[in-house]
Amino acid sequence: MRYFKIIKNAFCLALFMGVVLTSCRSDENQYTDNKRIEELLSRMTLEEKIGQMVQKNGGSFSDSLVRAGRIGSVLNEISVEKQNRIQKMAVEESRLGIPIIFARDVIHGFKTIMPIPLAQAATWNPQIVEKGARVAATEAASSGIRWTFSPMVDVTRDPRWGRIAEGFGEDPFLTSEMGAALVRGYQGENLSNKTSIAACVKHLAAYGWAEGGRDYNTTNIPENDLRDIVLPPFKRCADEGALSMMTSFNDINGVPATGNKFLVNDILREEWGYQGLVVSDWVSVIQLITHGVAADEKMSARMAVHATVDMEMASTSYETYLKELLHEGAISQQQINDAVRRILTVKFILGLFDDPYTNPNDFPEMLNEKHLAVSKKAATESAVLLKNEGLLPISEDIKTIAVIGPLADAPHDQLGTWIFDGNKQNSVTPLEAIKKMAKAKGIKLLYEQGMEISRSKEISSPGRVQAIAKQADIVLLFLGEESILSGESHSRANIDLPGAQQELVKLAAKSGKPVATVIMAGRPLTFEPVLEYTGAVLYAWHSGTMTGPALADLLFGHESPSGKLPVTFPRHVGQIPIYYNHRNTGKPATNETWERMDDIPVEAPQLSIGNTSHYLDYGFEPMYPFGFGLSYTKFEYQSIETDKNDYFQTDTIRVSIKLKNTGDYDAAEVVQLYIHDKVASRAPVMKQLKAFEKVFFKTGEQKTVEFELPVSALGFHNLEMDYVVEPGEFIIMAGGSSETKLDTEIVIEKN
Ligand code: BGC
Repeated sequence: MRYFKIIKNAFCLALFMGVVLTSCRSDENQYTDNKRIEELLSRMTLEEKIGQMVQKNGGSFSDSLVRAGRIGSVLNEISVEKQNRIQKMAVEESRLGIPIIFARDVIHGFKTIMPIPLAQAATWNPQIVEKGARVAATEAASSGIRWTFSPMVDVTRDPRWGRIAEGFGEDPFLTSEMGAALVRGYQGENLSNKTSIAACVKHLAAYGWAEGGRDYNTTNIPENDLRDIVLPPFKRCADEGALSMMTSFNDINGVPATGNKFLVNDILREEWGYQGLVVSDWVSVIQLITHGVAADEKMSARMAVHATVDMEMASTSYETYLKELLHEGAISQQQINDAVRRILTVKFILGLFDDPYTNPNDFPEMLNEKHLAVSKKAATESAVLLKNEGLLPISEDIKTIAVIGPLADAPHDQLGTWIFDGNKQNSVTPLEAIKKMAKAKGIKLLYEQGMEISRSKEISSPGRVQAIAKQADIVLLFLGEESILSGESHSRANIDLPGAQQELVKLAAKSGKPVATVIMAGRPLTFEPVLEYTGAVLYAWHSGTMTGPALADLLFGHESPSGKLPVTFPRHVGQIPIYYNHRNTGKPATNETWERMDDIPVEAPQLSIGNTSHYLDYGFEPMYPFGFGLSYTKFEYQSIETDKNDYFQTDTIRVSIKLKNTGDYDAAEVVQLYIHDKVASRAPVMKQLKAFEKVFFKTGEQKTVEFELPVSALGFHNLEMDYVVEPGEFIIMAGGSSETKLDTEIVIEKN
């Protein structure tokens, strides 16, 4: 058995190296790398091996530890000078000269900040997302960072959760495609190129399932849903060649991820054959004690090793206890060797053994024009037009604009959460960009911040707000939440516009002038109460360094909005979780069956007939559905066709969707393809996104968009936990939102 395992592991590792290296290294190189790794392993002492499994925070260790070969990785050290000094000790002064890998949370850009990941998902454009990651990788690598803790592919249905900002929303397919795009962007075409950095797919798993959206909270999820909804993005990124993954803080059905053998060893390693490096989250190994599944650090280290967590981030249970655990026979030499082999593999693949130092002069300048252009394009494509009563784009007749609101000129907040290295001095704010554009067009611009920050309880200058609104032909409000109100451990129970912002909208509307609102936030906010006071809503998230120029282009019509929601927007926080890929229930609601609270007669008798699944006060529908987003133009969905009616399991379904730009603007549309399994052994969800494409249309242009959908993609995990495509009828639907416009039926035959 043991022999089989060794062979198997060696085989898997070769396979993994094969997957990630095929595009960049010759077979001979791979062979040499494997040989060098095995040779090195055979020469390493136990202390040196354990040392590789240790990741330390910058500044928290002594030089002697580095020289002794007792550190595998350092995070958060971004001074190139210090890194090179540490690297020199590791490479030239330690016994075996194993280089250190420097890591950092480069989440959506390094110096050139891209939109937050949730906003990137709203582009529905993997190409621009990949380009953004390439920019981030190049800039980070020029600072010696060769490993980022991104992408975060935690599917979530809860906008209260602060980390919704960091992921790609509620859908497993969209999240998978975006995650894979980031992996490609970070890792580049050639992993040993100095601008390539290792991706780290996180957080394995179900972190976004936190009960109540409270960060780090317990998750309860049936294994079928874990496999159908939560895990696919991890698998997709593994298949894309992601070099590493990170375990999550949460427990899954009572078992914390970092000590979860079933999740990491059985599913990730054994089922998927993943041989990349798995790192814990920040001190999540010893948090097994806080969770209550380990009595002490020694036990937590043992559990994490059995789960195949290769590297411990920040805490010290591995360096303190692995030797003892090995001598007691509680863990095996094989387990340590496997972990070290995986760590060394990443270092070899990145070329660190051959070229361990960083010289910033070898890299393009940070924040260069090309980088900023990518950031601007991503920001432009991420904004979602949610409402427009003809106010946008700003008409040519407009002579005076009033810009009002706490987010109009907030260079720090527009960058969003997780921007360790971003700098507000580089931000171009909406106010700056609109001013510039207005000047060029001869438009007068009036500005009043109105509130000090988004949370301010009072409007600071109500008189001036009213006065400039009255003088203007259109009021542009910039509302939302500051960047610090989303992100890790920054969940909110109330996701309304914070502070006095609702009052600010009402005050601006009182002027009688048309009001268009731009909302900048790290999550979906519930802003239904102000909808009646504003004729347009452009949802702009926190979209990075170039937010201002991107928004100016959109507001003045140089670009048409093309973003679509990556997550359902609830009307009220009490509706959460509300998501598009839900089951039908036995009593689905309709507008006709929704019993409105205000209509209920006094002392009305309770009935058990005619009841459906909804809230008396907020119905059953969201404010805006998943996939939704308006354009300045109009798209007419004309027809949907499949190449056949009947398919076998191994077939591919070819779907053609014809649509036309019938409006007055050239614009891009995200064509979305959904499926519904009509009858299945587990109640099927009503719609599942299976493909999408962002396509550009000139005015009047008609196109046929073709999708190839393998029948194997139509399946789910049944009660026996097998992935199956059950024969029968399926509906294929298409449209520019999850509220689809076209559908057709097909049949999947028994093979
Ligand atoms: C976060 C991770 C992050 C790590 C290192 C943790 O608190 O959960 O996502 O990569 O810190 O900064």
